[in-house]
Amino acid sequence: MNEPRPQQASASAAVATADDEPGHRPEVGSDDDLAISVRDLCNEFGEQVVHKHLDLDVRRGEILGVVGGSGTGKSVLMRSILGLNRPLAGSISVLGTDALTNDKDARRRIDLNSGVLFQDGALFSSLTVAENVALPLKEHHEEIDNDLRDQLVRLKIRLAGLPDSAADKLPAQLSGGMRKRAGLARALALDPDLLFLDEPTAGLDPIGAAAFDQLILTLQQALGFTVFLITHDLDTLYAICNRIAVLADKRVLINAPISEVEQYDHPWVQDYFHGPRGRAAQRSIEGNNP
Ligand SMILES: Nc1ncnc2c1ncn2[C@@H]1O[C@H](COP(=O)(O)OP(=O)(O)OP(=O)(O)O)[C@@H](O)[C@H]1O
Ligand SMILES: [Mg+2]
Repeated sequence: MNEPRPQQASASAAVATADDEPGHRPEVGSDDDLAISVRDLCNEFGEQVVHKHLDLDVRRGEILGVVGGSGTGKSVLMRSILGLNRPLAGSISVLGTDALTNDKDARRRIDLNSGVLFQDGALFSSLTVAENVALPLKEHHEEIDNDLRDQLVRLKIRLAGLPDSAADKLPAQLSGGMRKRAGLARALALDPDLLFLDEPTAGLDPIGAAAFDQLILTLQQALGFTVFLITHDLDTLYAICNRIAVLADKRVLINAPISEVEQYDHPWVQDYFHGPRGRAAQRSIEGNNP
């Protein structure tokens, strides 16, 4: 994407940025109230060191943007937090629970409170959208009867901005943007406190990406969950993130509001935020917040 994308009008976005610098969403939460805390994380695959003594804090109720060059370990970090990748060393606390524990009940508590949209979508291709969204409910809430489950599934599909007619379609019958929304509906199935999104706007056209950003922001403000959002998309960072964590040199270089991150003295950060795309994204936001 070379052009900055149009910003969609949204009441919630206007409230969020009204008292703030254009495109710089205010910090929320505090360092005393963390949703996720990662300390001294080390990940290696064979000879390849991906993370070395990485620390990261995610505050409750914030949208944290996680950025970094391709292959810097953003997805591996997310998978480590989700318990899908066993790190070599370090500690991870999620909603006050040790995420590396072998205790099944503790792990289940975290899983029940985490909604995930994976980088590759990861919908089951042989199941309809409704069946995909129903899966977490079936797995974790056997006590819910079929009728109630169907109603919950339809509600999540609508929440994700899909028409009711999408429910009975297979993923292959949807556009890329609709598939992302279907993945989001599934991530929201259990009303999670934490939403993990890995490149949610990758592959969407600029208008579709802006609409998806606004959907995340509106849902976050309505439901209050914490968002761990991996993205390469500068427009997303300016439009909806409260803070940005930059992965480089095998660790989190800086985790701060975007206005601070832009000034950070590191070649990747300077190229990213002050290269042609970074400048375009800033201008686009400023143009929409005169
Ligand atoms: N299961 C695995 N086995 C071996 N190597 C892996 C595994 N998972 C990830 N890696 C390697 O770890 C590095 C970091 O991968 P990761 O997927 O986290 O990158 P990323 O920052 O998400 O990149 P992108 O922006 O392209 O998605 C890559 O070099 C990748 O090849
Ligand atoms: Mg990745």
